[in-house]
Amino acid sequence: MKIAILKERKIGENRVSISPTVATNLQKMGYEVWVESGAGVNAHFSDDAYTQAGVAVKSIDQLKAADVFVQINIPTEEIVAQIPDGKIWISSLYHRTNADIVKQLNSKNISALSLDAIPRISRAQSMDILSSQANLAGYRAVIEGAYHLDRIFPLLMTAAGTVTPSKVLIFGVGVAGLQAIATAKRLGAVVEATDVRPETKEQVQSLGGKFIEVKGVEVGSEGGYAKEASEEYRAAQREAVNKSLAQADLVITTALVPGRKAPILIDDEQVSLMKPGSVVVDMAAEQGGNCTKTKANEIVEINGVRIIGSVNLPSQLAANASELFARNIWEILKLVGPKGEIAFDISDEIVKGCLITHNSQILHAEN
Ligand code: NAI
Repeated sequence: MKIAILKERKIGENRVSISPTVATNLQKMGYEVWVESGAGVNAHFSDDAYTQAGVAVKSIDQLKAADVFVQINIPTEEIVAQIPDGKIWISSLYHRTNADIVKQLNSKNISALSLDAIPRISRAQSMDILSSQANLAGYRAVIEGAYHLDRIFPLLMTAAGTVTPSKVLIFGVGVAGLQAIATAKRLGAVVEATDVRPETKEQVQSLGGKFIEVKGVEVGSEGGYAKEASEEYRAAQREAVNKSLAQADLVITTALVPGRKAPILIDDEQVSLMKPGSVVVDMAAEQGGNCTKTKANEIVEINGVRIIGSVNLPSQLAANASELFARNIWEILKLVGPKGEIAFDISDEIVKGCLITHNSQILHAEN
């Protein structure tokens, strides 16, 4: 089969879905790989680099003859309109909130794999784009915060005096949060973290952080993901974190609940508790933000507290992010088409979880 690597159309996106290295691996599996001219340029993979990897560089019109179309972001209507009927589409779709695109793909009998819907089971870990990208985003969030702080992270003992370490507070200890803890610790900060899932306590401690426990109210989780927290939990959480929030130099928020707006963890009153000069990096900005003052893609300043509405942090590490994304795609193709021909076995748990449209049927309406 012929695989087409499409150029990302989303503004600010530097990543590309398949790197030249992975393109070489795919050819060894029996695929022919084509790339849209300029697709890798913002991740510093030139058209020449693809050519040297045996990939044919083509225009979008020429790519229409491919069998499989791959990109990172949800496609626009215009792009889907250009894909011939009956082909295979691979990208993130966030199908629960993008019913129109799903319908459009289905109306063209396109088989669409949604990368964000890959089940979180051990066998699928190597295919998990949410993890590979969140890991890098967690690292980048700390670097972003450190850049905006007017203090250093580590304890520094100098002839002129001692500098105390910065205090970092992290909300949400999923993949991004764990990497943020590890990165902030490596830079020498004192780190505290909290999460609705009590099982994260040990993970925080094993990275040298202090876990802030919210006592008396449970939220629980489903399939490894957090459920929506109650008002009662929110009140207890506010109580548990406010002292740390008032002392923090850098706060990183990462809390998400699948299929819902991001939960509010820092309200206006809590922002007013924070020190002038402190910084909030809100990684949930695109899903509405964990802080009431967050504006996506903007830095808002209130009484000397800067709140950064981070958007698409992996794009700022486009070389690593593209390489890991490409490896996730390679692993998926090893499952659905190990010999250069894709055939979907919908009895497989992973395929079942992420194949959204197939044979002119929508397999996942909103679950
Ligand atoms: P996420 O991006 O959905 O959420 C980030 C964190 O925010 C989560 O830890 C969540 O518990 C927390 N959170 C949600 N609401 C909150 C609130 N009101 N207050 C405080 N914290 C709140 O999570 P992510 O990073 O996608 O990881 C979710 C789970 O999936 C983790 O348990 C992770 O270990 C697991 N996982 C499993 C994989 C596999 O087995 N293939 C791969 C990757 C992750």
